[in-house]
Amino acid sequence: MSEKFARLTIDGSDVTIELPVLSGTLGADVIDIQQLTSNGYFTYDPGFVSTASCESKITFIDGEKGILLHRGYPIEQLAEHSDFLEVIYLLLYGELPDPQQKASFGTTILRHTMVHEQMLEMLKGFRRDAHPMAIICGLIGALASFYHDALDITNEHHREVTAYRLVSKMPTLAAMAYKFSIGQPFIYPRNDLCYGGNFLHMMFATPCEDYHVSPVLARAMDRIFLLHADHEQNASTSTVRLAGSSGANPFTCIAAGVAALWGPAHGGANEAVLKMLDEIGDEKHIDQFIAKAKDKEDPFRLMGFGHRVYKNFDPRAKVMKESCDEVLSELGLADDPILKIAKRLEKIALEDDYFISKKLYPNVDFYSGIILKALGIPTEMFTVIFAIGRTPGWIAHWHEMISGSYRIGRPRQLYTGPKSRDYPIDNKS
Ligand code: SDX
Repeated sequence: MSEKFARLTIDGSDVTIELPVLSGTLGADVIDIQQLTSNGYFTYDPGFVSTASCESKITFIDGEKGILLHRGYPIEQLAEHSDFLEVIYLLLYGELPDPQQKASFGTTILRHTMVHEQMLEMLKGFRRDAHPMAIICGLIGALASFYHDALDITNEHHREVTAYRLVSKMPTLAAMAYKFSIGQPFIYPRNDLCYGGNFLHMMFATPCEDYHVSPVLARAMDRIFLLHADHEQNASTSTVRLAGSSGANPFTCIAAGVAALWGPAHGGANEAVLKMLDEIGDEKHIDQFIAKAKDKEDPFRLMGFGHRVYKNFDPRAKVMKESCDEVLSELGLADDPILKIAKRLEKIALEDDYFISKKLYPNVDFYSGIILKALGIPTEMFTVIFAIGRTPGWIAHWHEMISGSYRIGRPRQLYTGPKSRDYPIDNKS
């Protein structure tokens, strides 16, 4: 029972609506407005800027302080001391695994990495120049057609197996989409490589010679996945939850999340950052792009800057920037011209009153694209990498909702269309 209440009085009405105020373990209190409808009102919050859509125990973000916790653990500590597989376990099960649990989980994930051979035939139905996000969206949804044995969402074991299958197969399908686009043969996953190394091997190995995965690059790939693993109720995760609330199977819910992630305002930003940096082309052009970003008449936005929640800095961007320096110096690209433009652009933007006043700081996508480019990942694959990293977060939120009590998501609206009017039957000739 709530101890605190918000009281709502509305002009012209003598009714005071008493709304419970609920507190979580961290972050803002919420005003429970569920009873408003029975009083004849809806709330209005386009873009859900002030709306908590659910209760969750998975991830907490404090946008003012630049805090990101996964099951209470700060992202900076996880990035330094943990790895992607361990964070996947943490997101799914709520606690860090002990060494035996981690080893067993790792073996399970590695042993689910192959996909049905029939999927190779499905892939061949796409154009060679299809965007890999279009392919992944299709293939992830199509996974539902292969696993009828585990689609009962009320069955805990089915939910767990599905989580393993999605986390394991996303890198395989992503690498297949890439190989298909360049006309090279698919490379099967290997059970002797780590998650990040296995992905790089599937992406860049060929049947013609051994491909050695650099441990530094495998670690960088793993950290990029880790930094994208979850981010509370962002657009794609909210899409997964809404699709899941109808009882749809998890493969289609994750495919819906992939679709939402593709947008340049969300996960598509990393691809858009690289295209923007390429368009800037030289440090001497930066000022004109800053001016475009500030011009209200110009739809151009500085990609990789700004965030709905972070209003000081994105803690992931800080870690990503460190990784960027490590990877580029490891590859002898410390003087990469694109990186120099990015660092100069960041410096100028952070000193500009427009960006300071609107609290626009580099987000996770600003530096990730530069690392991915250095790793040899083509720009069109950047958002696919984001999708691989975010899959455990999507699955954890889907599982949290389905294993608890939930209702089908069905928002209302402020209707401003025509009032009721009759069909002009007398005009019928
Ligand atoms: C991700 O939600 C998540 O958690 C997402 C994510 C995750 O991990 O899931 O963190 C991943 O999506 C990161 C964001 C990647 N997107 C981009 O980098 C695209 C560029 N950024 C913008 O599109 C924008 O900043 C958003 C979409 C990120 C946030 O948009 P909001 O919260 O709706 O803010 P807004 O668009 O209302 O902007 C507020 C003001 C506006 O000016 P005014 O109307 O107040 O005058 O800031 C301006 C905007 O014009 N603004 C920018 C800008 N971002 C906002 N101006 C120039 N360049 C920008 N990048």
